[in-house]
Parts: sequence; structure tokens; C-alpha cells
Amino acid sequence: MARWKSIETRWYEDRDALFRQVARLGRRDFLRFSVAAAGAAVVSGVRFAPHSFQPVAVADAKGKVEPFTFAYISDSHLYKRELNDRFVRSLLRAVDDVNAMDPQPDFVLYGGDLAQLGQREELDLGAQILKSVKAPVRMMVGEHDWFLDMGTRWRELFGQETYSFDHKGVHFVVLQSVNEADFWTKRGMTPMERMLTVAGLDNGIQSRFEVGAPQREWLKNDLAKVDDDTPVIVFSHSPLYKYYRNWNFWTEDADDVQAILKKFDRVTVVHGHTHQLLTNRIGNIDFHGMLSTAWPWPYAPEGLPKLTVQMTRPDPFNPNDGCGDGFASVTADGLVDKTYNLWNRNPVDVPSGYLQSGGKKLRPQDPTLKSF
Ligand SMILES: [Fe+2]
Ligand SMILES: [Fe+2]
Repeated sequence: MARWKSIETRWYEDRDALFRQVARLGRRDFLRFSVAAAGAAVVSGVRFAPHSFQPVAVADAKGKVEPFTFAYISDSHLYKRELNDRFVRSLLRAVDDVNAMDPQPDFVLYGGDLAQLGQREELDLGAQILKSVKAPVRMMVGEHDWFLDMGTRWRELFGQETYSFDHKGVHFVVLQSVNEADFWTKRGMTPMERMLTVAGLDNGIQSRFEVGAPQREWLKNDLAKVDDDTPVIVFSHSPLYKYYRNWNFWTEDADDVQAILKKFDRVTVVHGHTHQLLTNRIGNIDFHGMLSTAWPWPYAPEGLPKLTVQMTRPDPFNPNDGCGDGFASVTADGLVDKTYNLWNRNPVDVPSGYLQSGGKKLRPQDPTLKSF
């Protein structure tokens, strides 16, 4: 028996569900629903698949979450296929992983750094591959996608880089956290020189990543409409805290962003960029790093958050070791149980109870292999 339904079947089911839901709504709710659905269609990319025309669930009771799962794929760093076929195959493997999930995730977050040098061929190739993801895809931008043309091609393919949406009682926010103060104009850099400088993490020339004042203002306004007891999940490419400055494992205005999120009881940040198992908790915020499909970064020489359960050094004989994808299960209380699907090791579960207890309970299993 087939493990999944055809695209056509899903599309008809989604459409029927939409009309059933519309029929149940009063006029006020209908207006809210229409606006939310239109917004979601714009940002989530109906362009990916016809079945992404799905209703946005309106939470019935205040602060209540209907548990669900979203998967993630991140940091594929695609070169043109002639230059590097392995990273292409890794992304295809991740797509197969999430397409084989049963039940299917509600959506798939793409965590940024789809391209290596922001080139049209790289981004187009990535967009083409992601079209075969069956669940709706939510896109986030990374610095490797951005600094050649400052987001022009990425936006043409995927829409606005900053947006929010509501899903089953959770408010989601997607940020562009990799803005940098202009270091290129006075140096007379070409766009490719700028891109290569940002791609070299530790060259000491580029600026630190930041969300930036205009986007922080947008975030304040967006969250003003959200009740304090609604769980909030933020997607950012860089970690929204200060881990290791020299590699830009860092967001310069992290403190200001955290302050904006302070009024909420439950906040989770899921980020890319660091290419490693990474867990942190600061104040009311749980932080989870995503794996890369391309390569694992080593841990920074200092500043590693205490809650992180480290992976031992990757196996140099296996290019997939330390890479993978994963998913997040959003629980009824709006917190996130995170699963790392390591391709060469056992999966690692990082339950919210581990973070909430400050590491006292539910410690994840060590993802160790023998050292090489
Ligand atoms: Fe990356
Ligand atoms: Fe990155």
C-alpha cells in the first residue's frame, strides 16, 4: 500500500477541508480567515505545489495548541551541479527523508543558505529541487543566498524574506537575521567580492549579523497583535544570541530581539547557520540549531552553550557524518521537542523538558561514534 496520497488527492482533500471550515465560520472569523489564508498563500509559495492551498487553522480556544510536526532542511550550500554534485545529492536525500515521513509534517522549514554564492543557477537549482517536497515549504534566507545581489533573485523565487503566520494556535515569525552594516562600498568591492567576503566566516573584514532596527520595529508591531499566552516560534538563520563572534555564530542585536520576545510565556527559536547540534536556553527562550545537509561545522573554541549535547568529531571517511535534517514536534503546551536526524548516527531527541529544566531532566542521548 502506498505510504502517501497523490498530490491530486491531497489537493481535493485540502479544498474540501477549506470549504468545510469556511462554512462553520461566522462573518468576523471569516474575514480573519480570509486575510490569514491570503497572507499565507503569498508568503508560503503556492508556487511550490498546488496542495499548499490549505486552510490556516484558527485556534478555537485562547492559548491552546493542536499538536503538530514540522520538518526542516537547512544549509545545503548548492554550487552549480558541474562544480559539486555531492551537495546536490545531499539535498535530494533530505527531500526524500521528509517526503517519506508518515504522517507527513504540516510544513517543511527551509533554514537558509540554499546557495553557496547566491548565484542565479544555484538558487534556481535549489528552488527546482524543493518543488518536489510534498508538504508546503516555508522559506528562510541565509547570508550565502543574499550577499551577491542583496536578495533580488531569492525574492523573485520565494517572496518576502520577513513574514509571520499562525498555525494551529502557534504564532510563527520568520526573520532575515543576516543583515550587515556596509563594509563593501568604501572598499570598492564588486558584488562577488562582497559575497566571497561574507562566505569566508572568519576573515575579520565583514560586519556582524543583525536583525536591524527596521525589522525589529516590524517585529514589535507584528507581536503587538499576539496575546502573551500564545506560543511563539521564531525562525532565524543566525542564532538569535551571542555564541562566537569571530565566526558570526552571532547576532549583534540579539539582546534587543530577545527583549521584544520577553512578554511571551513560551518562545522557541529555531535557527540554521551553525551546522551542528546546538541547544540553548536564555530567559524565556528555547533555542535549537539545525543540521546542515552539506557539512558539519566544528564547535566554536569558546562560548558553547551549556545545554548543548555535543557530537564527537565527524568521521573524516564519511562525508555524511554530522549532516542530516530533522523535525520539531510542537506539543499541546506550545513548546518544541526537537529531533536531529543524523545520517550517520542514531537520531537525537532534545525534548523541551530538557531545556525547561535547565538540563536537569531528560538529557538527550550522546550522539557519539568512536574517535578517528
Ligand atoms: Fe550555512
Ligand atoms: Fe549561514
